[in-house]
Amino acid sequence: MTGRTSLTIVLAAGEGTRMRSSLPKVLHQVANQSLLAHVLAAAPQGAGSALAVVVGPDREDVAAEATRARTDALTFVQRERLGTAHAVLAAKDAIAKGADDLLIAFGDTPLISAATFERLRAPLRDGATLAVLGFRAQDPTGYGRLLVEDGQLVAIREQADASEAERKVDLCNAGVMAFAGKTALDVIEKIGKANSKGEYYLTDAVEIVRSLGLKATVIETDEDEVRGINTKAQLAEAEAIMQQRLRKAALDAGVTIVAPETVHLSADTTFGADVMIEQYVVIGPGVSIADGAVIHAFSHIVQAEIGKKVSVGPYARLRPGTSLGEGARIGNFVETKAAKLAAGVKVNHLTYIGDTEIGAGANIGAGTITCNYDGFNKAKTIIGAGAFVGSNSSLVAPVKIGSGAYIGSGSVITRDVPDDALAVERNEVATKDGWGKRFRDKHAGLKKSK
Ligand code: UD1
Ligand code: CA
Repeated sequence: MTGRTSLTIVLAAGEGTRMRSSLPKVLHQVANQSLLAHVLAAAPQGAGSALAVVVGPDREDVAAEATRARTDALTFVQRERLGTAHAVLAAKDAIAKGADDLLIAFGDTPLISAATFERLRAPLRDGATLAVLGFRAQDPTGYGRLLVEDGQLVAIREQADASEAERKVDLCNAGVMAFAGKTALDVIEKIGKANSKGEYYLTDAVEIVRSLGLKATVIETDEDEVRGINTKAQLAEAEAIMQQRLRKAALDAGVTIVAPETVHLSADTTFGADVMIEQYVVIGPGVSIADGAVIHAFSHIVQAEIGKKVSVGPYARLRPGTSLGEGARIGNFVETKAAKLAAGVKVNHLTYIGDTEIGAGANIGAGTITCNYDGFNKAKTIIGAGAFVGSNSSLVAPVKIGSGAYIGSGSVITRDVPDDALAVERNEVATKDGWGKRFRDKHAGLKKSK
């Protein structure tokens, strides 16, 4: 919305006891991103948009997540949990700066979109003092009910204070509100706690705005966008909705997903053109998949960079720090971690590659293990371009296999192997006679397969 400044306050000081978890509610995740981060990503950002997050006492973890997700976020502490209006006033210093629009959202409503925040701001531009986001609830139990007369919002009644008739209203408060910034503080400071819970309800702002002869209005949205998460069951419902959204966005962007309902994506997954994903694939956080890559069935991928035309799986596990160069191939029952594979590397069967760099075109045989951990320390394995590691070899790190070197099957390599070593078995480099000769005779005239 051009020209108008905004302050968004996100309330995240609730304890979330109904989650039955030691983790604060807003740090639970949907699509591998915290509930809080989802809300913060949707809140207005850029020039003229300020952001404040209200956290509970001793909740450095929530404050840290807020500033991780939005570096521009200010955090405020609500010392005692006395209700949503009280929580808003924890950020009083920010409100007092007087942005044109004051937006308030809850940290437990992760499906909210940026477009909805903008829609809610529109009535303020047209002179309303308060706009409340509403939705038609399938089951309104527990939500505040929006009481509308002659097209005007006259009150929000919380479940516990609602009459029998009011409880039948299915138009509910989503929890997101937009106040005209200049009057917001006056209105919110007038809120009392004369209700059945003895809490300062932000929802009372509607009646105060009305009593001042000012206008309050409702903007409606779909229930799926504003589901508040109070329980693990609701968390799972939100996950299902978010997954549907992410898959649809990927399909719309041209990703081929053979069986969408079996694929799990993350909020930050990125895809190039002509990517194909087979059945039952889990993509965790921090994954990018470049043009033409294929992820075969039953693969599990976290924090990995997958290059152009790479093939992964079936049944592959790519762990954090994996990066696969153009055309690399990772086959079945292969696990990688902190592994940087250059273009065209093949690791096709039953292998563990950890703390390793592999140069272009190297071929790693079935059952190869990089022994990166000696029980005390992790160490690195470096494999040069074009090297050939025979099946069932153990590369005991720290170790370097030279480029173009040939490692015989079943070797245990504990010493560095020079570049272009004709053949190495265990730690023995082939010599002119002995097994080196046999090797040469056998392979005479053959080109090493890439
Ligand atoms: C609230 C609304 C209700 C609405 C529903 C939508 C009020 C009084 N009620 O009810 O009308 O239909 O959300 O989901 O606003 N919080 C604090 N400090 C507090 C109290 C709450 O930070 O002292 C935060 C919570 O962390 C949460 C949000 O405010 O993010 C809402 O609190 P919650 O207790 O979940 O309110 P509901 O009962 O769901
Ligand atoms: Ca809630």
